[in-house]
Amino acid sequence: MSLPALPRRYHAASIWLLYAIGFVPAAWTFYLGATGQLIGNPVKIFEHLLGEWALRFLILTLMISPLRDLAGINWLRYRRALGLLAFWYVAMHFLAYMILDKRLAVDVIFEDITKRWFITIGMAALVMLIPLALTSNRFSIRRLGPAWSKLHRLIYPVAALGALHFCLAVKVIGPEQLIYAGLVAVLIGWRLVRPKYMEWKRSIGHAKGRTREASGL
Ligand code: HEM
Repeated sequence: MSLPALPRRYHAASIWLLYAIGFVPAAWTFYLGATGQLIGNPVKIFEHLLGEWALRFLILTLMISPLRDLAGINWLRYRRALGLLAFWYVAMHFLAYMILDKRLAVDVIFEDITKRWFITIGMAALVMLIPLALTSNRFSIRRLGPAWSKLHRLIYPVAALGALHFCLAVKVIGPEQLIYAGLVAVLIGWRLVRPKYMEWKRSIGHAKGRTREASGL
């Protein structure tokens, strides 16, 4: 079964639509918080939501390549937008933490980043995401050549650190943390076995070609 292909003329519009939809959870929750409609601790709810969406977008970014390899669905055109959405959600999560949660108390923030392990890990992930976001454009791809792909492999440790940060941020690890961490582990595992799988797939393709040639089809 294959999905109906989106006509080429809608590709650019569909990417912009993805950006627009991608920012809805942040904008909507901010609106609810600002208008007093979030029950409980609005700052924590907002901070949590941004962190969780950051992780979701990181996972979606990592899913694009296995989706193509295993299911033949080519959504490569959405990968950059998903990666950038992940970056913006981490950046907003960080800003919400600094401005809304810690009210820009630089000493407290510094102490948190250097002494609370889960925050140090989150910060490391954010720092690694910055060069990826800065080089997510055609100019950098052309300029960096093969080094670009090597640099962008950083997305795997970023996702691993993001998932670890999520597990360590909570007092008790529950099903939610396990699902995110499990997904990240599977996607990293796939990356490791992918070269072997692709080699096997190619050899099957060659063998099929030879059989067709031999039978004169
Ligand atoms: C890839 C990067 C990151 C991801 C995916 C991420 C994700 C998350 C998630 C999902 C949570 C929710 C935990 C919960 O309360 O249930 C969380 C909490 C938290 N994150 Fe991050 N985060 C990242 C980076 C950062 C950075 C850079 C900082 C700040 C330096 C940070 C500070 C925090 C804090 C303080 C909490 C706890 C909020 C609370 O008290 O409820 N995170 N993060």
